[in-house]
Amino acid sequence: MSEKEALLQKVKELKKDRNAIILAHNYQIDEVQDAADYIGDSFGLSRIAADTVADVIVFCGVHFMAEGAAILAPDKIVLLPEILAGCPMADMVTVEALREKKKRHPNATVVTYVNSSAAVKAESDICVTSSNAVNVVNSLDTEEVLFVPDMNLGDFVAARTDKRVILWDGYCRTHHRVNVADVASARKAHPDAVVVVHPECRPEVVKAADHAFSTGGILKFARETEYNKLIIGTEMGLIYRLRQENPGKEFYLLAQGLVCPNMKYTTLAKVVKALETLETRITVPASVSEPARRALELMLAVA
Ligand code: 13P
Ligand code: SF4
Repeated sequence: MSEKEALLQKVKELKKDRNAIILAHNYQIDEVQDAADYIGDSFGLSRIAADTVADVIVFCGVHFMAEGAAILAPDKIVLLPEILAGCPMADMVTVEALREKKKRHPNATVVTYVNSSAAVKAESDICVTSSNAVNVVNSLDTEEVLFVPDMNLGDFVAARTDKRVILWDGYCRTHHRVNVADVASARKAHPDAVVVVHPECRPEVVKAADHAFSTGGILKFARETEYNKLIIGTEMGLIYRLRQENPGKEFYLLAQGLVCPNMKYTTLAKVVKALETLETRITVPASVSEPARRALELMLAVA
């Protein structure tokens, strides 16, 4: 038995003992995806966390995702196998800075990307993920929106709504690194491929691509499209699942730098340790989790 097989076996046994489920984001490393009960985008995983009957949720992703699960499933034990796995974009907005900006835009509805801390969600009117941001914003009964923290996703939404969208100046270091020259050279290398990117990419990259979707949306598009060659403009972890689900199709990563270091911290050995020790448990105090849950549940009710 290989080391990986032994760890997978151990995960299986511990999962049964603990009545646990393993959720893995689409950007997780291959071996962690292999151990997961569910692999998905932020939206899909938050729905599963909210509905699960398991006692323990091992969240293989980054901190805000585990925090979201702890908010939506307050009676569960939510574990993050690697506590250092954060999201630099989520750290680009603080409660204090948001309160200041809200004072300057008192009529704006605060729409917050789930890539944010629980405390920032608690200061917000409603949350969004990349898969539902346009629908959520269009469902609002307001003229003006303060979109936090991703300026690129905010711009993507602004182009698809009549609302006035005020942007925060946050961004994802991984997706923001891609530029239009990368799109041009990928198209030159693979002229008969379709280009699909994540809306966290810069607006000019989204414009230069053929489509922009959440990671779940990219998976759906890849399954349904008649194109056999796809250039993928999102974090490299998605390519593993794309290739598994579509053995007859070819996938090319849009640019070399599409790696989120935080998403790569979680390993199978750390998942085993989390299940053995029930560490690190993610909890959110009620004073924060209650208003944050309201913002998340309003989102889940829309889409
Ligand atoms: P998705 O919701 O599309 O999976 O994206 C999450 C994320 O962190 C993208 O960088
Ligand atoms: Fe955050 Fe970007 Fe990593 Fe997603 S890919 S978790 S937005 S740093």
